[in-house]
Amino acid sequence: MNIAVIGAQWGDEGKGKLIDILSADADITVRYQGGNNAGHTVVVNHKVYVFHLLPSAILHPGKVCVIGNGVVIDPQAMLAEIKELSAKGLQVTANRLKISGRAHVVMPYHRILDGLRESKRKNKIGTTGRGIGPCYADKVTRCGIRMVDLLNPRVLKAKLEDNLSEKNDTFHKVYGQKGFGFSAIYQEYLAYGKKLKPYITDTAIFLYEAMQRKKTILFEGAQGTFLDIDFGTYPFVTSSNSIVGGACAGAGVPPMAIAKAIACVKAYTTRVGEGPFPTEFSDDLMERIRTKGNEFGATTGRPRRCGWFDSLLVRYAVIVNGISELAIMKLDILDELPKIKIAVGYRYRGKIYREFPMDSEVVCDAEPVYEEWDGWQTSTKNARTFTDLPLNARRYILRLEKLLKVGVKYISVGAQRDEIIVR
Ligand code: IMO
Ligand code: MG
Repeated sequence: MNIAVIGAQWGDEGKGKLIDILSADADITVRYQGGNNAGHTVVVNHKVYVFHLLPSAILHPGKVCVIGNGVVIDPQAMLAEIKELSAKGLQVTANRLKISGRAHVVMPYHRILDGLRESKRKNKIGTTGRGIGPCYADKVTRCGIRMVDLLNPRVLKAKLEDNLSEKNDTFHKVYGQKGFGFSAIYQEYLAYGKKLKPYITDTAIFLYEAMQRKKTILFEGAQGTFLDIDFGTYPFVTSSNSIVGGACAGAGVPPMAIAKAIACVKAYTTRVGEGPFPTEFSDDLMERIRTKGNEFGATTGRPRRCGWFDSLLVRYAVIVNGISELAIMKLDILDELPKIKIAVGYRYRGKIYREFPMDSEVVCDAEPVYEEWDGWQTSTKNARTFTDLPLNARRYILRLEKLLKVGVKYISVGAQRDEIIVR
Protein backbone atom coordinates (compact mmCIF):
# COMPACT_ATOMS: atom_id res chain seq x y z
CA MET A 1 0.00 0.00 0.00
CA ASN A 2 1.31 3.46 -0.91
CA ILE A 3 1.24 5.92 1.99
CA ALA A 4 1.76 9.66 2.25
CA VAL A 5 3.14 11.29 5.39
CA ILE A 6 2.54 15.00 5.79
CA GLY A 7 2.92 17.62 8.51
CA ALA A 8 -0.34 18.90 9.99
CA GLN A 9 1.05 22.03 11.65
CA TRP A 10 3.82 24.46 10.62
CA GLY A 11 6.52 21.92 9.80
CA ASP A 12 9.07 20.24 12.04
CA GLU A 13 6.44 17.82 13.33
CA GLY A 14 8.90 14.93 13.35
CA LYS A 15 8.17 13.64 9.84
CA GLY A 16 11.80 12.58 9.43
CA LYS A 17 11.59 10.13 12.29
CA LEU A 18 8.28 8.68 11.13
CA ILE A 19 9.55 8.35 7.55
CA ASP A 20 12.64 6.63 8.86
CA ILE A 21 10.44 4.07 10.62
CA LEU A 22 7.85 3.62 7.86
CA SER A 23 10.37 3.49 5.04
CA ALA A 24 11.70 0.24 6.43
CA ASP A 25 8.52 -1.31 4.98
CA ALA A 26 8.41 0.68 1.74
CA ASP A 27 10.50 0.04 -1.34
CA ILE A 28 10.65 3.65 -2.47
CA THR A 29 10.38 7.01 -0.67
CA VAL A 30 9.52 10.12 -2.67
CA ARG A 31 9.92 13.81 -1.94
CA TYR A 32 7.42 15.78 -4.01
CA GLN A 33 7.77 19.45 -3.05
CA GLY A 34 9.88 21.97 -1.19
CA GLY A 35 13.63 22.03 -1.27
CA ASN A 36 16.45 22.42 1.18
CA ASN A 37 14.28 24.72 3.28
CA ALA A 38 13.23 21.45 4.94
CA GLY A 39 15.34 20.03 7.72
CA HIS A 40 14.71 16.59 9.14
CA THR A 41 16.69 15.26 12.06
CA VAL A 42 16.93 11.52 12.62
CA VAL A 43 18.83 9.84 15.44
CA VAL A 44 20.01 6.29 14.86
CA ASN A 45 22.28 4.58 17.39
CA HIS A 46 23.01 7.98 18.93
CA LYS A 47 24.27 9.23 15.54
CA VAL A 48 22.49 12.38 14.41
CA TYR A 49 21.60 12.75 10.72
CA VAL A 50 20.13 15.96 9.33
CA PHE A 51 18.46 15.83 5.92
CA HIS A 52 17.36 18.75 3.79
CA LEU A 53 16.74 17.30 0.34
CA LEU A 54 17.18 13.57 0.66
CA PRO A 55 14.43 11.54 2.30
CA SER A 56 15.56 10.06 5.59
CA ALA A 57 14.80 6.68 4.01
CA ILE A 58 18.27 6.89 2.47
CA LEU A 59 19.49 5.50 5.81
CA HIS A 60 17.98 2.10 4.94
CA PRO A 61 20.28 0.16 2.63
CA GLY A 62 18.49 -1.23 -0.40
CA LYS A 63 15.73 1.38 -0.37
CA VAL A 64 15.29 3.78 -3.25
CA CYS A 65 14.77 7.52 -2.78
CA VAL A 66 13.15 9.71 -5.40
CA ILE A 67 13.28 13.47 -5.72
CA GLY A 68 10.19 14.30 -7.72
CA ASN A 69 9.57 17.00 -10.31
CA GLY A 70 7.80 19.18 -7.72
CA VAL A 71 10.94 19.63 -5.64
CA VAL A 72 13.28 22.57 -6.19
CA ILE A 73 16.88 21.44 -6.06
CA ASP A 74 19.93 23.39 -5.06
CA PRO A 75 22.55 21.14 -6.67
CA GLN A 76 25.27 22.38 -4.35
CA ALA A 77 23.17 21.41 -1.31
CA MET A 78 22.27 18.07 -2.89
CA LEU A 79 25.91 17.19 -3.55
CA ALA A 80 26.91 18.31 -0.06
CA GLU A 81 24.30 16.00 1.45
CA ILE A 82 25.45 13.06 -0.66
CA LYS A 83 29.04 13.78 0.32
CA GLU A 84 28.26 14.03 4.02
CA LEU A 85 26.49 10.69 3.98
CA SER A 86 29.41 9.08 2.23
CA ALA A 87 31.72 10.50 4.92
CA LYS A 88 29.49 8.71 7.45
CA GLY A 89 29.94 5.47 5.52
CA LEU A 90 26.74 5.56 3.47
CA GLN A 91 27.24 5.51 -0.31
CA VAL A 92 24.42 7.12 -2.26
CA THR A 93 24.59 5.20 -5.52
CA ALA A 94 22.55 5.92 -8.66
CA ASN A 95 20.37 2.84 -8.15
CA ARG A 96 19.29 4.25 -4.75
CA LEU A 97 18.68 7.88 -5.70
CA LYS A 98 16.55 9.04 -8.64
CA ILE A 99 16.22 12.74 -9.37
CA SER A 100 13.56 14.05 -11.71
CA GLY A 101 14.91 15.85 -14.76
CA ARG A 102 11.84 18.07 -14.49
CA ALA A 103 12.68 19.34 -11.02
CA HIS A 104 13.59 23.02 -11.02
CA VAL A 105 17.05 24.21 -10.07
CA VAL A 106 17.78 26.76 -7.38
CA MET A 107 20.25 29.27 -8.85
CA PRO A 108 22.56 31.64 -6.96
CA TYR A 109 20.37 34.60 -7.91
CA HIS A 110 17.37 32.90 -6.27
CA ARG A 111 19.16 32.77 -2.95
CA ILE A 112 20.15 36.42 -3.18
CA LEU A 113 16.68 37.50 -4.34
CA ASP A 114 15.12 35.63 -1.43
CA GLY A 115 17.01 37.83 1.00
CA LEU A 116 16.53 41.05 -0.96
CA ARG A 117 12.77 40.55 -1.27
CA GLU A 118 12.53 39.91 2.44
CA SER A 119 14.44 43.11 3.10
CA LYS A 120 11.88 45.09 1.07
CA ARG A 121 8.78 43.50 2.57
CA LYS A 122 6.80 45.39 5.19
CA ASN A 123 5.62 42.16 6.80
CA LYS A 124 8.57 39.82 6.66
CA ILE A 125 7.90 36.12 6.10
CA GLY A 126 11.06 34.94 7.79
CA THR A 127 12.03 32.60 4.96
CA THR A 128 14.89 30.15 5.28
CA GLY A 129 16.83 32.22 2.71
CA ARG A 130 17.44 29.19 0.51
CA GLY A 131 15.98 30.74 -2.64
CA ILE A 132 12.89 28.54 -2.55
CA GLY A 133 10.26 31.22 -3.24
CA PRO A 134 12.12 32.88 -6.14
CA CYS A 135 12.82 29.47 -7.72
CA TYR A 136 9.15 28.48 -7.62
CA ALA A 137 8.26 31.95 -8.92
CA ASP A 138 10.48 31.35 -11.97
CA LYS A 139 8.87 27.95 -12.49
CA VAL A 140 5.44 29.55 -12.60
CA THR A 141 6.53 32.53 -14.71
CA ARG A 142 8.02 29.93 -17.08
CA CYS A 143 11.65 30.98 -17.09
CA GLY A 144 12.93 28.32 -14.68
CA ILE A 145 15.91 26.06 -15.28
CA ARG A 146 15.30 22.36 -14.79
CA MET A 147 17.66 19.57 -13.80
CA VAL A 148 17.62 18.13 -17.32
CA ASP A 149 18.83 21.50 -18.64
CA LEU A 150 22.06 21.05 -16.68
CA LEU A 151 22.82 18.13 -18.99
CA ASN A 152 22.40 20.17 -22.17
CA PRO A 153 24.93 23.02 -22.49
CA ARG A 154 22.98 24.70 -25.30
CA VAL A 155 19.70 24.83 -23.40
CA LEU A 156 21.41 25.90 -20.20
CA LYS A 157 23.25 28.69 -22.03
CA ALA A 158 20.13 30.10 -23.67
CA LYS A 159 18.06 29.96 -20.49
CA LEU A 160 20.76 31.34 -18.25
CA GLU A 161 21.49 34.27 -20.60
CA ASP A 162 17.80 35.09 -20.76
CA ASN A 163 17.40 34.87 -16.99
CA LEU A 164 20.47 36.92 -16.22
CA SER A 165 19.45 39.74 -18.52
CA GLU A 166 16.20 40.08 -16.60
CA LYS A 167 17.56 39.31 -13.13
CA ASN A 168 20.53 41.62 -13.45
CA ASP A 169 18.20 44.46 -14.41
CA THR A 170 16.25 43.77 -11.24
CA PHE A 171 19.43 43.61 -9.18
CA HIS A 172 20.67 46.95 -10.60
CA LYS A 173 17.48 48.94 -10.87
CA VAL A 174 15.39 47.70 -7.96
CA TYR A 175 17.96 46.70 -5.38
CA GLY A 176 21.04 48.71 -6.42
CA GLN A 177 23.14 45.52 -6.40
CA LYS A 178 25.78 44.41 -8.83
CA GLY A 179 24.23 41.24 -10.27
CA PHE A 180 25.81 38.11 -11.73
CA GLY A 181 28.21 37.33 -14.59
CA PHE A 182 27.34 34.53 -17.02
CA SER A 183 30.48 32.39 -17.22
CA ALA A 184 31.03 31.50 -13.60
CA ILE A 185 27.45 30.32 -13.07
CA TYR A 186 27.36 28.53 -16.42
CA GLN A 187 30.53 26.57 -15.67
CA GLU A 188 29.49 25.87 -12.08
CA TYR A 189 26.09 24.49 -13.04
CA LEU A 190 27.41 22.44 -15.96
CA ALA A 191 29.76 20.83 -13.46
CA TYR A 192 26.84 20.07 -11.13
CA GLY A 193 25.05 18.51 -14.07
CA LYS A 194 28.03 16.23 -14.76
CA LYS A 195 28.12 15.08 -11.15
CA LEU A 196 24.38 14.55 -10.82
CA LYS A 197 23.83 13.03 -14.28
CA PRO A 198 23.78 9.40 -13.05
CA TYR A 199 20.83 10.20 -10.79
CA ILE A 200 18.74 12.25 -13.21
CA THR A 201 15.91 10.39 -14.88
CA ASP A 202 12.19 10.50 -15.66
CA THR A 203 10.99 9.67 -12.16
CA ALA A 204 7.31 9.56 -13.18
CA ILE A 205 8.14 6.62 -15.46
CA PHE A 206 10.30 5.08 -12.77
CA LEU A 207 7.42 5.26 -10.26
CA TYR A 208 4.91 3.96 -12.79
CA GLU A 209 7.04 0.94 -13.55
CA ALA A 210 7.67 0.34 -9.86
CA MET A 211 3.93 0.35 -9.19
CA GLN A 212 3.40 -2.07 -12.05
CA ARG A 213 5.81 -4.38 -10.24
CA LYS A 214 3.81 -3.90 -6.99
CA LYS A 215 6.55 -1.97 -5.25
CA THR A 216 5.35 0.12 -2.30
CA ILE A 217 5.87 3.85 -2.21
CA LEU A 218 6.02 6.31 0.66
CA PHE A 219 5.39 9.97 -0.17
CA GLU A 220 7.21 12.33 2.15
CA GLY A 221 5.72 15.78 2.54
CA ALA A 222 8.08 18.53 3.59
CA GLN A 223 6.95 21.56 5.64
CA GLY A 224 3.39 21.34 6.94
CA THR A 225 -0.23 22.03 6.02
CA PHE A 226 -0.12 25.57 7.44
CA LEU A 227 2.91 26.37 5.32
CA ASP A 228 1.07 25.16 2.20
CA ILE A 229 0.79 27.86 -0.47
CA ASP A 230 -3.01 27.40 -0.69
CA PHE A 231 -4.10 26.19 2.73
CA GLY A 232 -1.47 27.71 4.98
CA THR A 233 -1.50 30.98 6.85
CA TYR A 234 -0.91 32.94 3.66
CA PRO A 235 1.32 34.89 3.04
CA PHE A 236 3.39 33.39 5.86
CA VAL A 237 3.81 30.12 3.98
CA THR A 238 6.25 28.37 1.72
CA SER A 239 5.86 28.35 -2.07
CA SER A 240 4.63 24.82 -2.71
CA ASN A 241 1.72 22.48 -1.96
CA SER A 242 2.83 20.54 1.06
CA ILE A 243 -0.55 18.83 1.47
CA VAL A 244 -1.10 15.27 0.26
CA GLY A 245 -2.60 16.60 -2.98
CA GLY A 246 0.81 18.02 -3.83
CA ALA A 247 2.15 14.49 -4.16
CA CYS A 248 0.25 13.83 -7.39
CA ALA A 249 1.52 16.87 -9.25
CA GLY A 250 4.92 16.79 -7.57
CA ALA A 251 5.69 13.14 -8.26
CA GLY A 252 3.61 12.45 -11.37
CA VAL A 253 1.34 9.81 -9.87
CA PRO A 254 -2.46 9.59 -10.07
CA PRO A 255 -4.54 10.24 -6.91
CA MET A 256 -5.55 6.57 -6.79
CA ALA A 257 -1.90 5.68 -6.27
CA ILE A 258 -2.05 7.02 -2.71
CA ALA A 259 -4.05 4.70 -0.48
CA LYS A 260 -3.53 6.33 2.89
CA ALA A 261 -2.43 9.63 4.40
CA ILE A 262 -0.80 9.86 7.82
CA ALA A 263 -0.44 13.20 9.55
CA CYS A 264 2.47 13.94 11.79
CA VAL A 265 1.87 16.39 14.64
CA LYS A 266 3.76 17.43 17.71
CA ALA A 267 2.06 16.93 21.07
CA TYR A 268 2.25 20.74 21.18
CA THR A 269 2.83 23.25 18.36
CA THR A 270 5.86 25.02 16.92
CA ARG A 271 6.50 27.48 14.15
CA VAL A 272 9.67 29.01 12.69
CA GLY A 273 9.60 32.40 11.02
CA GLU A 274 6.90 35.02 11.10
CA GLY A 275 3.12 34.73 10.92
CA PRO A 276 0.14 34.18 13.17
CA PHE A 277 0.30 31.58 15.93
CA PRO A 278 -2.79 31.78 18.17
CA THR A 279 -1.66 29.30 20.85
CA GLU A 280 1.89 30.64 21.20
CA PHE A 281 3.32 30.44 24.73
CA SER A 282 4.26 33.40 26.81
CA ASP A 283 7.92 33.75 27.75
CA ASP A 284 8.41 31.33 30.67
CA LEU A 285 6.79 28.26 29.08
CA MET A 286 8.33 29.17 25.73
CA GLU A 287 11.83 28.93 27.15
CA ARG A 288 11.10 25.71 29.02
CA ILE A 289 9.60 23.79 26.11
CA ARG A 290 12.11 25.17 23.62
CA THR A 291 14.99 23.95 25.76
CA LYS A 292 13.49 20.57 26.62
CA GLY A 293 12.31 19.94 23.05
CA ASN A 294 15.49 21.35 21.50
CA GLU A 295 13.29 23.55 19.36
CA PHE A 296 15.83 25.11 17.07
CA GLY A 297 15.51 24.95 13.28
CA ALA A 298 17.44 22.10 11.66
CA THR A 299 18.01 24.30 8.60
CA THR A 300 18.69 27.78 9.93
CA GLY A 301 19.25 27.14 13.65
CA ARG A 302 16.61 29.76 14.46
CA PRO A 303 14.77 29.28 17.76
CA ARG A 304 11.31 27.86 17.09
CA ARG A 305 8.24 29.53 18.54
CA CYS A 306 6.33 27.08 20.75
CA GLY A 307 2.72 26.86 21.93
CA TRP A 308 -0.15 24.62 23.02
CA PHE A 309 -1.77 22.03 20.78
CA ASP A 310 -4.30 23.71 18.50
CA SER A 311 -7.09 21.32 17.57
CA LEU A 312 -8.65 23.75 15.06
CA LEU A 313 -5.44 23.77 13.12
CA VAL A 314 -4.95 20.02 13.06
CA ARG A 315 -8.62 19.24 12.42
CA TYR A 316 -8.41 21.41 9.32
CA ALA A 317 -5.31 19.52 8.22
CA VAL A 318 -7.14 16.22 8.76
CA ILE A 319 -9.85 17.46 6.41
CA VAL A 320 -7.73 18.81 3.55
CA ASN A 321 -5.35 15.86 3.60
CA GLY A 322 -7.93 13.09 4.12
CA ILE A 323 -6.01 11.84 7.14
CA SER A 324 -6.84 8.40 8.48
CA GLU A 325 -4.05 8.02 11.04
CA LEU A 326 -2.17 10.38 13.28
CA ALA A 327 1.35 10.24 14.60
CA ILE A 328 1.85 12.30 17.75
CA MET A 329 5.48 13.17 18.21
CA LYS A 330 7.49 14.45 21.16
CA LEU A 331 4.92 13.56 23.81
CA ASP A 332 7.79 13.23 26.31
CA ILE A 333 8.50 16.95 26.08
CA LEU A 334 5.29 17.57 28.04
CA ASP A 335 6.20 15.03 30.76
CA GLU A 336 6.90 17.54 33.53
CA LEU A 337 4.05 19.97 33.02
CA PRO A 338 1.42 20.15 35.78
CA LYS A 339 -1.28 21.46 33.41
CA ILE A 340 -1.64 21.03 29.65
CA LYS A 341 -3.92 23.07 27.44
CA ILE A 342 -5.61 22.28 24.14
CA ALA A 343 -7.18 25.02 21.99
CA VAL A 344 -10.72 23.99 21.04
CA GLY A 345 -11.94 27.30 19.62
CA TYR A 346 -11.00 30.89 18.84
CA ARG A 347 -12.76 33.89 20.30
CA TYR A 348 -12.80 37.02 18.17
CA ARG A 349 -15.06 40.08 18.51
CA GLY A 350 -17.62 38.18 20.57
CA LYS A 351 -17.80 35.26 18.14
CA ILE A 352 -16.51 31.75 18.82
CA TYR A 353 -14.90 29.92 15.90
CA ARG A 354 -14.82 26.11 15.99
CA GLU A 355 -13.16 25.74 12.61
CA PHE A 356 -9.89 27.23 11.45
CA PRO A 357 -10.86 30.63 9.98
CA MET A 358 -9.87 31.90 6.53
CA ASP A 359 -9.61 35.55 7.50
CA SER A 360 -6.02 36.30 8.46
CA GLU A 361 -7.16 39.07 10.80
CA VAL A 362 -9.16 36.57 12.84
CA VAL A 363 -6.24 34.13 12.97
CA CYS A 364 -3.87 36.92 14.00
CA ASP A 365 -6.01 38.49 16.71
CA ALA A 366 -8.20 35.67 18.03
CA GLU A 367 -7.97 34.55 21.66
CA PRO A 368 -7.82 30.74 21.88
CA VAL A 369 -10.51 28.98 23.89
CA TYR A 370 -8.68 26.39 25.93
CA GLU A 371 -9.48 23.16 27.68
CA GLU A 372 -7.12 22.50 30.56
CA TRP A 373 -6.02 18.97 31.37
CA ASP A 374 -3.93 17.65 34.26
CA GLY A 375 -0.40 16.71 33.27
CA TRP A 376 1.09 13.29 34.06
CA GLN A 377 4.37 14.49 35.56
CA THR A 378 6.02 11.12 34.97
CA SER A 379 8.56 10.13 32.34
CA THR A 380 7.03 8.52 29.26
CA LYS A 381 10.41 7.75 27.69
CA ASN A 382 10.28 4.01 28.36
CA ALA A 383 6.67 3.48 27.31
CA ARG A 384 6.41 1.05 24.38
CA THR A 385 2.69 0.31 24.47
CA PHE A 386 -0.28 2.60 24.96
CA THR A 387 -1.03 1.09 28.36
CA ASP A 388 2.55 1.81 29.51
CA LEU A 389 1.64 5.51 29.37
CA PRO A 390 0.53 7.27 32.56
CA LEU A 391 -3.26 7.66 32.81
CA ASN A 392 -3.27 11.42 32.18
CA ALA A 393 -1.10 11.01 29.08
CA ARG A 394 -3.59 8.47 27.74
CA ARG A 395 -6.43 10.85 28.56
CA TYR A 396 -4.66 13.60 26.62
CA ILE A 397 -4.22 11.38 23.56
CA LEU A 398 -7.81 10.13 23.71
CA ARG A 399 -9.07 13.69 23.95
CA LEU A 400 -7.08 14.67 20.87
CA GLU A 401 -8.50 11.72 18.96
CA LYS A 402 -12.00 12.84 19.85
CA LEU A 403 -11.39 16.46 18.85
CA LEU A 404 -9.66 15.55 15.61
CA LYS A 405 -12.01 12.69 14.74
CA VAL A 406 -9.16 10.41 13.77
CA GLY A 407 -7.19 7.68 15.51
CA VAL A 408 -3.66 8.03 16.86
CA LYS A 409 -1.52 5.18 15.61
CA TYR A 410 2.00 6.32 16.54
CA ILE A 411 3.18 8.10 19.68
CA SER A 412 6.80 9.16 19.85
CA VAL A 413 8.33 9.42 23.31
CA GLY A 414 11.96 10.24 22.46
CA ALA A 415 14.35 11.04 19.63
CA GLN A 416 15.74 7.51 19.22
CA ARG A 417 14.35 5.26 16.50
CA ASP A 418 12.89 2.78 19.01
CA GLU A 419 11.33 5.36 21.31
CA ILE A 420 7.89 5.01 19.77
CA ILE A 421 4.57 3.38 20.54
CA VAL A 422 2.72 1.73 17.66
CA ARG A 423 -0.91 1.01 18.45
P1 IMO B 1 10.38 20.86 7.50
O1 IMO B 1 10.28 19.98 6.28
C1 IMO B 1 9.49 24.62 9.43
C2 IMO B 1 9.08 28.16 6.89
C3 IMO B 1 10.09 29.26 7.07
C4 IMO B 1 9.23 30.47 6.75
C5 IMO B 1 8.33 29.96 5.64
C6 IMO B 1 8.78 30.32 4.24
O2 IMO B 1 11.65 20.72 8.25
O3 IMO B 1 9.19 20.69 8.37
P2 IMO B 1 10.73 29.41 2.69
O4 IMO B 1 12.22 29.41 2.90
O5 IMO B 1 10.15 28.06 2.52
O6 IMO B 1 10.29 30.38 1.64
O7 IMO B 1 10.15 30.01 4.07
O8 IMO B 1 8.32 28.55 5.77
N1 IMO B 1 9.63 26.82 6.62
C7 IMO B 1 9.67 25.82 7.51
N2 IMO B 1 9.35 25.79 8.81
N3 IMO B 1 9.89 23.49 8.85
C8 IMO B 1 10.18 23.48 7.54
O9 IMO B 1 10.42 22.35 6.87
C9 IMO B 1 10.13 24.69 6.81
N4 IMO B 1 10.38 25.04 5.53
C10 IMO B 1 10.06 26.34 5.43
O10 IMO B 1 10.59 29.30 8.38
O11 IMO B 1 8.42 30.79 7.85
MG1 MG C 1 12.58 21.08 9.93
